[in-house]
Amino acid sequence: MNALSKLGQLRSSPRVARSVAHANIALVKYWGKRPGALPDLNLPAVGSLSMTLGELRTETEVGPSDAGDQFVLDGETITGPARSRSIQHLDRVWRAFGAPESRPRPTLYIRSRNHVPTAAGLASSASGFAALTLAASAALTTCFDGLSAPREVYGPLSALARRGSGSAARSLWGGFVRLDRGTHDDGSDCRARPLFARDHWDLELLVVHTAKGKKPVGSTDGMNRSRETSPYYAPWVDHSEADLDAAEAALGRRDLAALGDIVEHSCFKMHACMLATRPPILYWNGTTLEVIRALWEARARGLEGYATSDAGPHVKVLCRAETATALSESLAAVPGVLGIDRVAPGPDATVEVEL
Ligand code: DP6
Repeated sequence: MNALSKLGQLRSSPRVARSVAHANIALVKYWGKRPGALPDLNLPAVGSLSMTLGELRTETEVGPSDAGDQFVLDGETITGPARSRSIQHLDRVWRAFGAPESRPRPTLYIRSRNHVPTAAGLASSASGFAALTLAASAALTTCFDGLSAPREVYGPLSALARRGSGSAARSLWGGFVRLDRGTHDDGSDCRARPLFARDHWDLELLVVHTAKGKKPVGSTDGMNRSRETSPYYAPWVDHSEADLDAAEAALGRRDLAALGDIVEHSCFKMHACMLATRPPILYWNGTTLEVIRALWEARARGLEGYATSDAGPHVKVLCRAETATALSESLAAVPGVLGIDRVAPGPDATVEVEL
């Protein structure tokens, strides 16, 4: 019996459950899957550490459907691989709560809304799969009593969310969160935990948009290619745990210079590993680099901010709230910048059930 089936009994008829989960940005990055693990477990090769984002969030409702499984995102019925990925996740939730193979899952609808500011192009799989995991679990089991989810289920639910998307494991909590790599083959100890609440430190993230549209290489595919072909992949994995410990300690003592140093180092190591993949994976554009240069110049003038970027060309800048306006103005002047969003640390994910 796994941790979830101990906590909840399956319900004979699903209820309607609504959840909200916020996106997150990794300050110490996850890039790579554990070799030899079942793809369905989606086990990362490295841990990661993130800040949950206040403004970016996904709201999801899951409930019984007489018309078969359905997935509607921002008012549009979704088909193809994006639908299959979400419906498959409903099956995982059902099995995780101990449903025997002989008992089919009740058919469900998923209705989600993404709240993503301005130019989009930011990962929504983290908030999306965290919200889906919470709402589906609450719809299908007895362990949610209405207005809130019991705290003891968040840990096991984080491991379940990870199977939908690695970064989703971190979106169950607000503030600053660490996803442990874990060692168990079944992934039960590969789950996130909250480190510091959102009010721990007055930090902000400036999301500097440098392009519109979708990323050219999906993260899952890119990670597998890096593991198979990048000569920098092994050192990337080897140094990750030390970066995580150092970042956690710097966060704890509110040392921005030390944290920022690790944030940039982790980001550039990940992108170096991507660039050394065959064929190379290059997510940046010219504006990405100009923004980073402008940020370093601003820092030399005393405006302290640190860059990170993910599987896309946007730059995210970690800074103190008091510096955010001046930094934002100076980066908005870089040619090619489409817009800048200021984001504060966000809250825990929540769920409620219609009784
Ligand atoms: C570069 O969580 O999107 O944003 O587990 O394959 O769904 P899958 O990957 P995903 O990867 C995120 C990669 C990253 C770094 C990070 O968020 O840690």
